[in-house]
Amino acid sequence: MGLFSLKKKKTESGGTKPPLRHIAFIMDGNGRWAKKRGLPREMGHKAGAEAFRRIVECCIDRDIELVTVYAFSTENWKRPQSEVDGIMKLFVEYLHDGLENPRQKNSKIRFLGDNSRFSPEIRELMERIVEKSSHYPHALNIAINYGGRDDIVYAVNSLIAEGKTEITEEDISSHLYTSGQPDPDLIVRTGGEWRLSNFLTWQSTYSELFFTNTLWPDMSDKDVDEALEFFTSRQRRFGQVK
Ligand code: IPE
Ligand code: IPE
Ligand code: MG
Repeated sequence: MGLFSLKKKKTESGGTKPPLRHIAFIMDGNGRWAKKRGLPREMGHKAGAEAFRRIVECCIDRDIELVTVYAFSTENWKRPQSEVDGIMKLFVEYLHDGLENPRQKNSKIRFLGDNSRFSPEIRELMERIVEKSSHYPHALNIAINYGGRDDIVYAVNSLIAEGKTEITEEDISSHLYTSGQPDPDLIVRTGGEWRLSNFLTWQSTYSELFFTNTLWPDMSDKDVDEALEFFTSRQRRFGQVK
């Protein structure tokens, strides 16, 4: 158990802290981190990949059941080809590393997003890592070629393919890439932008939102703890009167 116990518990004043099962990160600011240092953007993504590994371990230490990271959006293909290639190269390195050198702290991996855009070789690596990691207790979603709108369209198309003519909210929730998982309790965005950029559109309706100016490669355990402190200070009402 880490610094924080995020399961519902009594506070000193007798109230209860909200439980946190799912934290999601919009890992933004890699390019600006590199620019500040006079480095190419690709170096920012490399430093971002290291921060990603560090922050996932930090969340495991804090016993958070599910972590989602936004690694690449459906819109990020519009970036210069060399940058897209650099990000994909880092992704393939991450997959190889995960398959060949298991880390001490591991998570059960799920990929969120349309994987049909990836080569058969990359898709095979993705399938292998999902299978190999399936027994770990903590879970990690990697949103790659992910869009919140694409997620909803994918769910609706799956329902049409099943022959549904009328659908419920539960039908949509259970056909999203996150099917069966709790919605994010807290979404953290680094890099100083106050927007969601097509992330978890359906799932974020009641998420608490935490924005920080910290650039993603600089993200530290301390920043995570600050976000968790913020979360525990919130009163979640879900439309009710408390
Ligand atoms: C986030 O960092 C990583 C991806 C979107 C792939 P950016 O590359 O968006 O960094 P900034 O926002 O340009 O600093
Ligand atoms: C959001 O960051 C996507 C990821 C972090 C993967 P962007 O940098 O693409 O978002 P915008 O363009 O600033 O909205
Ligand atoms: Mg950005």
